[in-house]
Amino acid sequence: MAAVRPAIPNVPDPACEPAAVTIVVCRSCRLRDMPADGVRPGVRLLEAVSEAARNTDISVKSAGCLGNCRRGISVAMLRPGGWSYLFGELEETSADDILAGAALFATSSDGFMPFGARPEALKRGLIARIPTFDHLKDLP
Ligand code: FES
Repeated sequence: MAAVRPAIPNVPDPACEPAAVTIVVCRSCRLRDMPADGVRPGVRLLEAVSEAARNTDISVKSAGCLGNCRRGISVAMLRPGGWSYLFGELEETSADDILAGAALFATSSDGFMPFGARPEALKRGLIARIPTFDHLKDLP
């Protein structure tokens, strides 16, 4: 069964204006016993995420390493006013889950990606979430 791709608003809605989300895919991630040459799974995931995000407000970038090499494929997600997320143990086929998470994150009102509604890959693959400087004032 084909995955259902989430509708990601790309037209500002005055009632619930989505914040832009940026997805950063590590293009260097590879499987542990995979040789260093050849097309890396991170590159394949980057291509799939870029294609899935076409014509949406979701921006896709790539990085040479996100510092999570032992638990790749690694993806970070950021948005203005929101905590930053790092996910790992993703797969080349995780693009739809990543876009679903980005859509949730884009429309959240509190700057968090809602845990319960997230795809399973973004629940078990959470490596870290990091507050913004603005959120630090709310922390003890
Ligand atoms: S190589 Fe992908 S996180 Fe380091």
